[in-house]
Amino acid sequence: MINMKRTHNCGEVGVKDIDHEIYLLGWVHRRRDHGGLIFLDLRDRSGIVQVVVSSQDAELFATAEKLRIEYVVQVSGKAVKRSPETINQQIKTGEIEIKCSNLEILNTSKTPPIEIADATTEPDEMVRLRYRYLDLRKDKMRENLVFRHKLIRAMANYLDQKGFIEIETPFLTKSTPEGARDYLVPSRVNPGKFYALPQSPQLFKQLLMIAGMEKYFQVARCFRDEDLRSDRQPEFTQLDLEMSFVTRDDVIEVIEGTLKHTLAELEKDIDKYRGKRIPLIELPFPRLTWDEAMNRFGSDKPDLRFGLELVDISDLVRDTECMIFARTVAAGGAVKCINVKEGENKLSRAELEKLEETAKKLGAKGLAWLVLTSNGPKSPIAKFFKEEELELIYTRTKCETGDVLLFVADYFDIACNVLGEVRLELGKKMQLIDYNSFHFTWVIDFPLFEYSKTEKRWVSRHHPFTSPQGNLDEIEEKFLKEPGRIKAQAYDLVLNGTEIGGGSIRIHRADIQHKIFKIIGIGEEEINRRFGFLIEALEYGAPPHGGVALGLDRLVMMLAGMDSIRDVIAFPKTQSALCPLTGAPDVVDPQQLKDIHIRTAI
Ligand code: AMO
Ligand code: AMP
Repeated sequence: MINMKRTHNCGEVGVKDIDHEIYLLGWVHRRRDHGGLIFLDLRDRSGIVQVVVSSQDAELFATAEKLRIEYVVQVSGKAVKRSPETINQQIKTGEIEIKCSNLEILNTSKTPPIEIADATTEPDEMVRLRYRYLDLRKDKMRENLVFRHKLIRAMANYLDQKGFIEIETPFLTKSTPEGARDYLVPSRVNPGKFYALPQSPQLFKQLLMIAGMEKYFQVARCFRDEDLRSDRQPEFTQLDLEMSFVTRDDVIEVIEGTLKHTLAELEKDIDKYRGKRIPLIELPFPRLTWDEAMNRFGSDKPDLRFGLELVDISDLVRDTECMIFARTVAAGGAVKCINVKEGENKLSRAELEKLEETAKKLGAKGLAWLVLTSNGPKSPIAKFFKEEELELIYTRTKCETGDVLLFVADYFDIACNVLGEVRLELGKKMQLIDYNSFHFTWVIDFPLFEYSKTEKRWVSRHHPFTSPQGNLDEIEEKFLKEPGRIKAQAYDLVLNGTEIGGGSIRIHRADIQHKIFKIIGIGEEEINRRFGFLIEALEYGAPPHGGVALGLDRLVMMLAGMDSIRDVIAFPKTQSALCPLTGAPDVVDPQQLKDIHIRTAI
């Protein structure tokens, strides 16, 4: 019988323990054989400590010789001070070592396919995910999970103090439209019927407000069958909250308070990740209207870590002889411009051409450029402009000798989006981005609807439960006039160019909710079938309410400075939604399919 005696965690033995008998349990992190001495780095969750086994005890030494990395052992011995020249400043326990007097092998290990100590190269992601339990043994991965845990605790504590209660909502439910496909679960006891896994707890949190809970939060798992990217997983976690009797500013205040508190709690960890002191965030976060964000940054999730703002010159080029510009403006489009300061020296011709290619790939017809040299403008389009026209453009864009102007003329959306992307590429290329700073911003006043070219109809930009701004009773009238101009009581939270949260004030009146469904083309029968329960609930004294959800995985990823949310999720899926560790998704027994009344067509 192994006694499992453990007096210390490896990473916590120190000078204070010198001459004490120490019992440790853990893994062999490294093993170095120095003839008569074997040095082990013993690791547990808390860190590493050095253990020395001397050949003076032959039996003990024989056991130590059998050890390989990742063997699981129990060690005991005296903590002794290391001689000055052998002190290791790199680790917390570097001033002492354990003089081993007893060593027990609790388990062996095959040679791990992933380097855990001293990893020089990152193995292929398939290998990392296949052996995730080994990958998670690495310091970085363990630190990420601990950091995530602390962040969730800090957030929950803050919300608890503010009177929020955590309530769980179902996974087996009905479709909640958040813009992705549903994951479906067939019902065995109800042949031919399906549950949908929730894309978010949206409808349940609204029902909780109707139920009088007033302040709800949940660390909620959401499921969305969509194309994956480095910041998207098929199942991910939200910090979800909802409040009754609030305006937008109340919700914003809660989130700002939560983040300020949480980041202050995690200050040390964040500084450690960044390797330097990161200033605490300041409240309130800046707010940009959606129009402003699009106009100035060409994006509804603007990266405010650097300038290079877009400038609109449509009014200046309305009557020019440069037809690509004039015609675009005449047709109701826009001409947008970026001034790349000192671009003449910083951007080569080849780089300009590459940017033009990027612009074209993104759907622009081209990317016109103008270099203002000391001998005047150099540009394929300069000859079409009068001197005065150019002067006006220079003034508007603050263009000086040595600067480069980049233009896109197109529909407003395309011109903004394309130059917005060009801006991001330039930001990276010209190293304008401070990767150790956090720039939070709210984007507010989103349009309520957007036109879907594929579906040829207006759809909700957030979800259809978002309240319009202004007089609710005029929604139909406004929609018939100018659907694109109706603004929503919606807000997104953006951090360094990534959307980390979104929310809105909801529709709390059944008649308005019904109208919105009709406006986005959902028929009467479908409204009743899919959302009848919500409309009915709204008829029983639903309070005005609103809320927000933060994408926790994304937030943790960004605070920890990781490139992928997979690095902050214990068991994530690959880009193609596979779990290489378990082999999910997988085929199932024919009997299981029969039980749930499913026949596959493949
Ligand atoms: P939304 O759909 O904007 O809002 O989601 C909120 C936040 O969740 C994160 N997120 C994701 N993170 C990882 N992988 C994904 N596939 C993924 N999809 C979204 C984003 C996003 O900002 N019910 C509403 C919230 C509300 O209105 O209160 C909702 O889910 O960071
Ligand atoms: P072209 O006359 O097509 O050779 O274009 C001349 C220059 O204008 C090239 O640098 C194109 O990239 C650029 N250009 C063409 N169409 C547009 C547009 N819609 N917006 C901005 N630049 C454009």
